[in-house]
Parts: sequence; C-alpha cells; structure tokens
Amino acid sequence: MALGRLFSSTRAVPAVSEMPAHVAIIMDGNGRWARKRMMPRVAGHKRGLETVREIVSACIERGIGHLTLFAFSSENWRRPEEEVSFLMNLFLKALEQEIAKLHRNNIRFRVTGDLSRFDDRIRVMIADAEALTIENTKLTLTIAANYGGRWDILNAVESMLAAHPDKRAGFQEEDLAPFLALGDLPEPDLFIRTGGEQRISNFLLWQLAYTELFFTETLWPEFDAAAFDVALNSFRTRERRFGRTSEQLQTKTPTE
Ligand code: IPE
Ligand code: IPE
Ligand code: MG
Repeated sequence: MALGRLFSSTRAVPAVSEMPAHVAIIMDGNGRWARKRMMPRVAGHKRGLETVREIVSACIERGIGHLTLFAFSSENWRRPEEEVSFLMNLFLKALEQEIAKLHRNNIRFRVTGDLSRFDDRIRVMIADAEALTIENTKLTLTIAANYGGRWDILNAVESMLAAHPDKRAGFQEEDLAPFLALGDLPEPDLFIRTGGEQRISNFLLWQLAYTELFFTETLWPEFDAAAFDVALNSFRTRERRFGRTSEQLQTKTPTE
C-alpha cells in the first residue's frame, strides 16, 4: 500500500532509521527540580526553558527533523491559578524572545492544542510566529499547549465529518489522520518522558501507536544533550516490528 503523505504506521510499514525523524517529549519534573532546591515550583519552569533551547540545538546537530514538546496539557488548568498564570507569562516571554532566533536558525515553529482558551495576545503572537517561519526546513518545532489527546481525536472527528457532510459510515484511518495534530508529519519514532512517571498523561494518544517509549528519572531541567543521547542510543537498540515477526525482519521480507 502506498504510504502517500500520511506516514501511517498501521496502514503501511514505515521506513525506519537509526536516528528518529520525529521525537516527542513530555517535559516533566520542573516542580520537583525546584522543590529539591527549596525554590518555588515556577523556578523549575523557568529553568526548563533552558533545557528546551539545549534540546532544540541537539536535534539540529543530530539531524532530527521534527521535535514536539508537551508544554501544557488540557488538565494543567487544574493547577493553582498563580502557577497557570506564571506559565502563560513564560510562554508569552519565550515567544517574544525566541522566535527571531528560531527563524534565523531555519526552524519552523508551530503550536498545537485548543488555543481558544489563550488570551488574544498569545494567539496573535503564535499566528505571527507560525506565518514567519512557515517556509523553514531545518527543524519543525511543535509546542503542544492546552493539548489533550482526547481533545485532538474529538476535534479531528468533527473536522472530518464537516469535510464529508453526506457520509455517515465507512470512514478509514486516512480520512481522520489529516485532521489530527501533527497529521502532516511522520508519526513520532521516539517518545521521551522525563521526571520518572511512566504514563502518557493524555499526550498524543493516536499518534503514538507504534512509537518507541523511553522513560527517564532525570528531571526536565537536568535533561541535557548527553541525557538525550542516552535516549537516542536506547532507540537504536529497538527492534521495530510493526506487528511482524523478528524472523521476517532478519530475512528482510518486503514490507507492504
Ligand atoms: C512539567 O513539570 C511542566 C508542566 C506540566 C507545565 P511539572 O510542573 O509537572 O513538574 P512536577 O511533575 O510537578 O515535578
Ligand atoms: C504532563 O505532565 C503534561 C506536561 C508535561 C505538559 P503532568 O505533570 O501534568 O502529568 P501528570 O499530572 O503527572 O500525569
Ligand atoms: Mg508533572
């Protein structure tokens, strides 16, 4: 079956390589990092932004074309109001300070999530940043903000139904996939979660179908290029079977 533009791991066996084309990360552990140092939780978020810069550079150096970072989940609104508003301000400041630099480095910047809950200033800055960097090709940096995997699927179903007003049944994966977040990117090859928890926390529920999962105790503010390489080395040892047997891979049976 032709892969076409969808890169679907369930509809066809994707090409694999030693270096992931797309890495998706749950950046967790900021609060605990700060608490360990007797600092307010928000100091951890501030320090976490430096890790973002380091990992973006590391992706470019290693030729990774797509990086998706979970910055704020649809459930993070449940946090204390002061922490939520600190995070919003940090996001706004980061947009102001970083976009020109991302653009100079040929990085395409995108945000995915339900943006309707953000204030207008943030929404305008996101739209401007996306427009400015749309032609950039070195790295696609996607920030998931007010993102939830269940929201994503529901939202895509609504868009798909609107695109096919007369159809009620017989939908295929290919009909839905383009409407999902990251629907135009290869599915993540490698998922990393820092901070020690081993859960998905409503991140990319559909898109992680065949992604290799890597969990580390390292807290996000301490996750550096060397820690990233540990995850990449682990990825290299994985046998990605996509439902096939190990023997089939060794005999290099043509995939379909
Ligand atoms: C991740 O770090 C950042 C966000 C969820 C915004 P946390 O704030 O969840 O840090 P911990 O898990 O409490 O240490
Ligand atoms: C997941 O981390 C969301 C982000 C990193 C943005 P959380 O800290 O919110 O996840 P839980 O609550 O521990 O599952
Ligand atoms: Mg957390």
